[in-house]
Amino acid sequence: MFLKGAKITAIGSYVPARRLTNSDLEQMVDTNDEWIVQRTGIRERRISREDEYTSDLCTAAVLDLMKRYGKSIQDVDMILVATSTPDFPFPSVASILQNRLGIPSTAGAIDMSAACAGFVYALHTAHAYVASGLHRKVLVLGADALSKITDYTDRSTCILFGDGAGAVLVESDEQLDGFAGFHLGSDGSGAHHVYRTGLSRSVNEVELVDTGKLVQNGREVFRWAVRTVPQGVQQVLNNAGISLDQVDWFIPHSANLRMIEPICERLNYPLEQALYSLEYFGNTSAASIPLALDLGIRGGKVLNGQQILLYGFGAGLTHAGQLVKLELAPEVSPPTPL
Ligand code: UT7
Repeated sequence: MFLKGAKITAIGSYVPARRLTNSDLEQMVDTNDEWIVQRTGIRERRISREDEYTSDLCTAAVLDLMKRYGKSIQDVDMILVATSTPDFPFPSVASILQNRLGIPSTAGAIDMSAACAGFVYALHTAHAYVASGLHRKVLVLGADALSKITDYTDRSTCILFGDGAGAVLVESDEQLDGFAGFHLGSDGSGAHHVYRTGLSRSVNEVELVDTGKLVQNGREVFRWAVRTVPQGVQQVLNNAGISLDQVDWFIPHSANLRMIEPICERLNYPLEQALYSLEYFGNTSAASIPLALDLGIRGGKVLNGQQILLYGFGAGLTHAGQLVKLELAPEVSPPTPL
């Protein structure tokens, strides 16, 4: 049963102009196009300019949303930004956006930290705010500038990550209902498998590598995700009271195509109905799910009213699933090309 009262009415996206191809990476580390495509499915990523930060990526995504759907954000009463790469530890990206986009200072503004699961956590939070009646119009962003914290001498990570942003509006509606089952989780016992050091240099009694850059044990995260995500998807379906064959599109976090394949296989879900953004944008962390959703919309595949199952997973180790039906307003102008 879909709950009443909250719906996704608009979407926008942005990726920086600069492309980092597999052949560019061949010049930087000991790797090759064949290995990267075979092991990850990634061909290119986008890299922000030196003076371009997460707040800038978010701003461009919101401008795309407003232009496409003719939406005003003057009455937004909450801004949620999911990111692991905020411009600063504080102030928040959300506060910067409030001022830059001219959203009234009576709106709430917070950043949310749940790594690659961040967008789904933020969407779930927006739904809770709106369905409870506490807020009426929430701007939700998933954005990361991972190139700023990527170690371009480490071939096991630098081939994966890219930069981007996605934005959606979640609005209240007396009649329509666009959110159904969800499932959230976090297994902190794996917190040392993917991290960037901060004030502390150890977690779970493990001394962390202190490069100031993203460090990960890819194999461990890979194994955990392929085990955890299919179980989580089943929980979302149980919570929603529907079966997997009623799901029109599955949008898992775009970490690696070689993870999405076994996840679909374990679920017995057709890979052709899985949408991802990794081929030309890489792993964009919190941005990967809204970017994949928007690629589906821009390509004419994803339509209003279809059942879409989003599932984010990543550092924490966090994971979050949400079943949604879009109720996008009619487009008044074409999207800004990506
Ligand atoms: O965003 C959420 C958090 N992150 C993830 O979900 C990432 C999950 N993990 C992955 O995507 C994959 O584990 C990686 C892409 C990071 C690595 O792929 P893999 O198939 O698991 O490779 P592996 O770590 O088992 O390494 C296999 C071999 C190793 O060589 P040896 O020890 O067998 O001689 C690596 O040194 O591949 C080597 N290797 C590379 N070779 C060429 C690792 N990176 C590269 C590279 N180019 N870029």
